[in-house]
Amino acid sequence: MKILGISGSLREKSHNTALLKAAQELKPENMEIEIYSLKDLPLYNSDLEKPEFPESVIRFKELISESDALLIATPEYNYSFTGVLKNAIDWASRPSSQSLLKKKPYALMGVSGGMSGTIRSQMHFRQVAAHLDMTALNKPEVYIPFGGKKFDEHGNLTDEATRDHLQKFLNAFRELIFSVKSEKEISLN
Ligand SMILES: Cc1cc2nc3c(=O)[nH]c(=O)nc-3n(C[C@H](O)[C@H](O)[C@H](O)COP(=O)(O)O)c2cc1C
Repeated sequence: MKILGISGSLREKSHNTALLKAAQELKPENMEIEIYSLKDLPLYNSDLEKPEFPESVIRFKELISESDALLIATPEYNYSFTGVLKNAIDWASRPSSQSLLKKKPYALMGVSGGMSGTIRSQMHFRQVAAHLDMTALNKPEVYIPFGGKKFDEHGNLTDEATRDHLQKFLNAFRELIFSVKSEKEISLN
């Protein structure tokens, strides 16, 4: 199955992007995770929808269409998820009559520098995703506090308990995808 990994942080040494890389390492069999960077998406502007969406948005939408599910890792910015992630979701939701996000399975994770573990960021994201009628992995949840202590200086996830939890989370995500999509619909590799 094909998963599109999206980080809510553009920072080169982002712990959230590093978490997606850890997911690539710990994923279950038959799961492929491609990480897409949001850095090339323009700021949403409805004037840019016509005559056709910008090239980078078309590519982003293609990647969403080709994937069975989205794996999102986002920091918390000012008690919410990041502006770059909201911008990407806004693009993907357009045109609303053909939103690619409708019923799209997704799983959410987050690393914070401090103690919150991105709880408030994820609560906000879930509210937006419910409006878009996306299909959530509700449990288990992945809230990683004190990111600086869980990753080494090269961005490797070194905390064993977090690695185990991430593995369980990815297995549960796989089960969710199988439960909502028929085998025929899933991109097997
Ligand atoms: C604009 C801004 C707002 C932030 N607001 C919060 C916040 O509300 N709660 C929190 O726990 N951390 C907050 N942080 C700190 C981030 O959790 C921290 O920078 C995190 O490591 C960023 O993730 P990254 O390593 O993936 O870039 C904020 C950081 C920035 C730049």
